Amino acid sequence: MCGIVGYAGSGDAPQILIEALKRLEYRGYDSAGIAVQENGGLTIHKKQGRISVMEETLPKLKATVGIGHTRWATHGEPSDANAHPQVDSSGDIAVIHNGTLENYADLRSRMEAAGIEFNSGTDTEVLPHLIARHYNGDLLAAVRAALGEVTGAYAIVVLHAAHPGEIVAARNESPLVVGFGEGENFLASDAPAIVKYTQRVAYVHNGELVRITADSIEISDMTGGTREPEIEELEWVVEDAEQGGYAHFMLKEIFEQPRALQESLLPTLAEAIVEGLDLNWRIGSISIVACGTSFHAGLVGKYVIEQLTAIPVNVYHASEFRYSPPVQNVGGMLSARPLVVLISQSGETADTLAAARVARQQGSHTVAICNVGGSSLAREVDGILLTRAGPEIGVAATKTFIVQMQALYMLAVHLAYSRKSMDQPQLRRWEQELRRLPHYVGQVLERRTAISKLAGTLQSANSIFFIGRNLSYPVALEGALKLKEISYLHAEGYPAGELKHGPLALLSPETPVVAIMSPDHTHSKLVSNIEEVAARKAPLLLVAQEGDADAQRLSPHVITVPATDPVLQPFTAGVALQLLAYHVADALGCEIDKPRNLAKSVTVE
Ligand code: M6R
Repeated sequence: MCGIVGYAGSGDAPQILIEALKRLEYRGYDSAGIAVQENGGLTIHKKQGRISVMEETLPKLKATVGIGHTRWATHGEPSDANAHPQVDSSGDIAVIHNGTLENYADLRSRMEAAGIEFNSGTDTEVLPHLIARHYNGDLLAAVRAALGEVTGAYAIVVLHAAHPGEIVAARNESPLVVGFGEGENFLASDAPAIVKYTQRVAYVHNGELVRITADSIEISDMTGGTREPEIEELEWVVEDAEQGGYAHFMLKEIFEQPRALQESLLPTLAEAIVEGLDLNWRIGSISIVACGTSFHAGLVGKYVIEQLTAIPVNVYHASEFRYSPPVQNVGGMLSARPLVVLISQSGETADTLAAARVARQQGSHTVAICNVGGSSLAREVDGILLTRAGPEIGVAATKTFIVQMQALYMLAVHLAYSRKSMDQPQLRRWEQELRRLPHYVGQVLERRTAISKLAGTLQSANSIFFIGRNLSYPVALEGALKLKEISYLHAEGYPAGELKHGPLALLSPETPVVAIMSPDHTHSKLVSNIEEVAARKAPLLLVAQEGDADAQRLSPHVITVPATDPVLQPFTAGVALQLLAYHVADALGCEIDKPRNLAKSVTVE
């Protein structure tokens, strides 16, 4: 949450900062601001609202060094005063911050008692005042000393009027990446911000500080010890972070799914597929831990892993797991070490990161399914199964959901084959089917127009229920999440058999039900549930495979997906529901890529 950038070079700093910020707007859009070094001092410009609001009111500035911020409010409502940068009393020190400072209230009241005046309701404002108190001519030392007094999560960038050409940054728990250019260097909370300028990056670790100028990058820790940056080449290119002619990033990313599946597919599932961890040991149980859409992918994964391997799998919300991990893990008392699979597209979700640490403390092996190779999660786990969907900019997860499921299927097949619960011909068949996924998903994308026409059936609803059984149950959860987050219509996902245990009371002609039908062993049971809905006169929108005669009989409104093995249907139905949500939100005129109150990467608890 919150996007931060820094630039030191000889280019047009305000323009570079604004352009980089726009690529980070998915991290927050309550307010935006920049600080640049100009005429021996700092010029600060910040505004409540989108980056475009700040940009439109920006005076002409001539500067080659500066910092920028796009905010997702935690402490203090969205306002000009609470926008970043925050400054000290002299106005010489500007700080931009992503994260939350836990002891800010205590620090603030002590400083106020000492006569320092605060001008915002943010936790961040304590930082410039603290840095000013410790400043003695050495900005890096002052920032280090100030950070010694704070607790909590932060990535910060700091500018001082008396240090031309220099930016100091630091990180604890919130992401920070350094970009290496030619005669210019960059800082950012996420690589897509700077991919236009450089592909060479280094990730800053927790507890580290960075000092950058146009020609130098120095990384040090809280004791002053230094290390050489480990430079990595980004696989992403600038087009990945651009809209490319689509009306929204979400739509572009929905249409990128066949490619994302192709890029993420491993050539063989017989060999080790997890980088850094050999899975050749007796796995007693698997816990899958994630948030939001990634959690739904995990629920799909549970069905498949259990079916193929007979290893028991439980799926946990990371925010619950971190404080109440499963009791059987405690103390590492089991002969077989549990495996904990953490799923996160960003690899920066605070709860998922904390859950990974809890799992490791308990002696579990940890594997991350993650879309960002250099992310915090990727670095903290024992093994990594990298998805290659490219950067996802739309706040609503789409292509990363699809490749997360693909990764879980690959994991299931690999575990089954290496444990001999799957023979070679079965392995080949699975590999073949997984190779066909981009084709099946492509077929769903071709039905976009038909799906967009059906969006009208939901637009004026009070509330919408999504139901499914077996593998279609998590798909129903994800369909409801997609719809509610971008259209603001109330939607709930339910196991179809549960409707009659309560929610049926809510059904009416104004409460449509979206049912996801699959030709699996639960089909006839779902048909009965759909009949129960029809009897209450709730409008029905069905998602069903081609040739499903029951679907055609039960409703005039059917989204057909290609005929596949039922086990592959989460991919096709999942994409159909993404398109449905997209078109409902579009018809309602919603801000699809930046839904209210949300941010892409949830780096606070
Ligand atoms: O980066 P992560 O996968 O850890 O993010 C988890 C959730 O915040 C995320 O999946 C969220 O639910 C989606 N953006 C919703 O579309």
